[in-house]
Amino acid sequence: MTDTAEKLSADELAAVQLERLQWTLRHAYANVPFYTKKFADAGVHPDDCRELADLAKFPFTTKADLRDNYPFGMFAVPQKDIRRIHASSGTTGKPTVVGYTEQDLDTWATVVARSIHAAGGRPGHKVHVAYGYGLFTGGLGAHYGAEKLGCTVIPASGGMTARQVQLITDFEPEVIMVTPSYMLTLLDEFERQGVDPRASSLKVGIFGAEPWTEQMRAEIEERFAIDAVDIYGLSEVMGPGVAQECVETKDGLHIWEDHFFPEVIDPFSEAVQSAGAQGELLFTSLTKQALPIIRYRTRDLTRLLPGTARPAFRRMEKVTGRSDDLIILRGVNVFPTQIEEIVLRTEGLSPHFQLVRTTRGRLDHLTVRVEARHGAEAALRETAASALAVGVKDGVGVSVTVEIVEPDTLERSLGKMRRVLDQRDPA
Ligand code: DLL
Repeated sequence: MTDTAEKLSADELAAVQLERLQWTLRHAYANVPFYTKKFADAGVHPDDCRELADLAKFPFTTKADLRDNYPFGMFAVPQKDIRRIHASSGTTGKPTVVGYTEQDLDTWATVVARSIHAAGGRPGHKVHVAYGYGLFTGGLGAHYGAEKLGCTVIPASGGMTARQVQLITDFEPEVIMVTPSYMLTLLDEFERQGVDPRASSLKVGIFGAEPWTEQMRAEIEERFAIDAVDIYGLSEVMGPGVAQECVETKDGLHIWEDHFFPEVIDPFSEAVQSAGAQGELLFTSLTKQALPIIRYRTRDLTRLLPGTARPAFRRMEKVTGRSDDLIILRGVNVFPTQIEEIVLRTEGLSPHFQLVRTTRGRLDHLTVRVEARHGAEAALRETAASALAVGVKDGVGVSVTVEIVEPDTLERSLGKMRRVLDQRDPA
């Protein structure tokens, strides 16, 4: 199947989107009692959607809605038509369960194939997939997309880090798909085995599933001699491959808008934001059969920008914050990515850090625990500690304690990184 969507004109795309949106609203309304009721409560009917802007009249869907309908209550097709189930663990309570029909799996593979191509992968390339396989969408999502593009897949999954380095050395993949934090774990292992990461066969890394910064891109590109690009997605909307950064511009992620319709709202007033304004990202699926999803609140913060390398589609700015990760410290908003930027700018500090929240007196306190780089002597460590504290004070506006620890002492990521340790006293 040839994928020609990237060649659509703006008018053609809008027409495709409207037709698919109207289908999705009718499909959800007719087949998912949750949506039937939710639309009725909001006084809207699928027939009220005559243009794309009418979507704003429809109610939001949240993660709590999926949990309340656990496990299969949001499915819009009979169980015999569901070919696969994935689930995201979540930190508390029941997992969020998602399902795919055969056509959904084909759509998913198509958008991931498109993503790998935009990242610089080509048919015939070997793709090392180190996203976890299983209920998480990362491994299998990347896998079938790479096969669809005509690549050779190496389904390494996460973990067994020493073996991953051996496989990369021996099988010589051009492309790796992995979380950015696990890529750092692999980097350590290359160095531990005395293998030069810059001499590996890798040319392109497709990193996602967690936020990462431009500074982290620079670090990974330099130390592996590769192009590092960003892939975004979430299980409720599909999995990886909802949006992808193009290797030729590296300027944010093009959203595959023929399948996923984005909006950005002000998270407080809930009003739709105009183009270019920051806010919470929402998605409405346009073609999904098993789990149509209407105005899903991702909790990811970004803004929509015009397309560049793929002019047919809008871009979303790299997601550097998620409302769930936000630390409010004495009234100041702090995202872990803001700290990451400053850590990576500071000489003598490695990219391995944790944020530890504690209670001091009656106030919240934040400690940045960060590993020194190999070879950083005591004097450099001391300068680095004060430079980081000053950098955070000036750049973010909060006072933090900096604790420099020995190289290779902090827990390493095996997939999605847990950056924040909450050791506050219970209120
Ligand atoms: O993480 C899907 C995925 C797998 C995407 C592999 C990319 C690569 P979930 O487990 O449902 O799905 O988590 C989705 O992860 O709402 C974001 O908060 C975060 N996230 C995903 N990609 C990015 C990214 C997968 N590129 C949640 N940048 C999303 C920042 C990301 N955050």
